[in-house]
Amino acid sequence: MKMEYVCTDRGTAKCPCALMAAGQCYTCGMLSRGKCDCRAGWQGVCPYNEYVQNGGKAQPVPAGRALKIRKVEDFSDRLKVLTLEAPLGLALACSRMGSFVLVGEGELSLPLSVMETVLAGTEAELAGAEAGGGTCIRLCLDVTGPKSQALDRAAESGDRLWIRGPFFSGLINAEKFDPRRLSLVIGRGMAIMPLLNQKNLLGSGLLAMYLDENKLTADFLARYATPLAYRQVTLDESAAGEADAAGSVCGSDELVVLVRGDIEYCRQQTGLAPNIFLMLSPYYCRLLAERFDLDLAQVIYPNHANICCGLGLCGACSHTDADGVTVRACKCSEISSC
Ligand code: FES
Repeated sequence: MKMEYVCTDRGTAKCPCALMAAGQCYTCGMLSRGKCDCRAGWQGVCPYNEYVQNGGKAQPVPAGRALKIRKVEDFSDRLKVLTLEAPLGLALACSRMGSFVLVGEGELSLPLSVMETVLAGTEAELAGAEAGGGTCIRLCLDVTGPKSQALDRAAESGDRLWIRGPFFSGLINAEKFDPRRLSLVIGRGMAIMPLLNQKNLLGSGLLAMYLDENKLTADFLARYATPLAYRQVTLDESAAGEADAAGSVCGSDELVVLVRGDIEYCRQQTGLAPNIFLMLSPYYCRLLAERFDLDLAQVIYPNHANICCGLGLCGACSHTDADGVTVRACKCSEISSC
């Protein structure tokens, strides 16, 4: 069966976009094939109707804006957290699962997941170091290459950062999250950032979390991963089925036993399978899905595409599936493989 791609921007202010005008909308075949692709009974916004109502034009490309930098925290020489003041509407949009923003201007702009959304007057804001500081978003930066170095310099020396977004395709299968189910998380390093933006949503529904702290410092985790209770693991070559690392909490087989046990326990106790988050790089994502016997179509994991414009325009994120269908991965909330 051919993969059915659903655009993550369907029904938002960004729809219809340039792909509709080009006859390449993933959700609607009215322009490309003259045929409605919506499933019977679907009650969402019709992109074609929006296109016609808009005079046969795409919505304008969303404008960027400069946000005031409230704080830059250094957790190591490469791990930074940027706190940016944000209007309420933007912050609310950034709280959606899988949100990310493009930070910086022109060819130096960099996609960063929203790590935390803090709304004025909420418990999180009042408990923060800058209590009473108002609504803000937080981004975590791993300073690795020219773009992140330029962004780090801009944040250290300026008082504003240019951002575009938010975009909502940062997590594949995010819409499969079911709040009635418990959640099981396996994460490593920077890949957990989109999950931290949802830690309140997971809340007491966390079945188990296994975290390889790679690159994340104890200070950072105490400040931004609390109250998520996790078990520390090491995903190194042991996860590839080779020799277990001495002293590692989880050698390959042990982690497989633990995760399978968690899933079984969840099924027995609740009658439902858990939401599964693999907050990992593409390598570990594929590897662990295979070892745990998981169907990636049912797992929530980071969108690993090379995001450049985020708008379906440049093609940097193009993904071709097993059927030879090429799509812009920056627009997809589901994709056939990671
Ligand atoms: S990032 Fe430009 S088309 Fe997807």
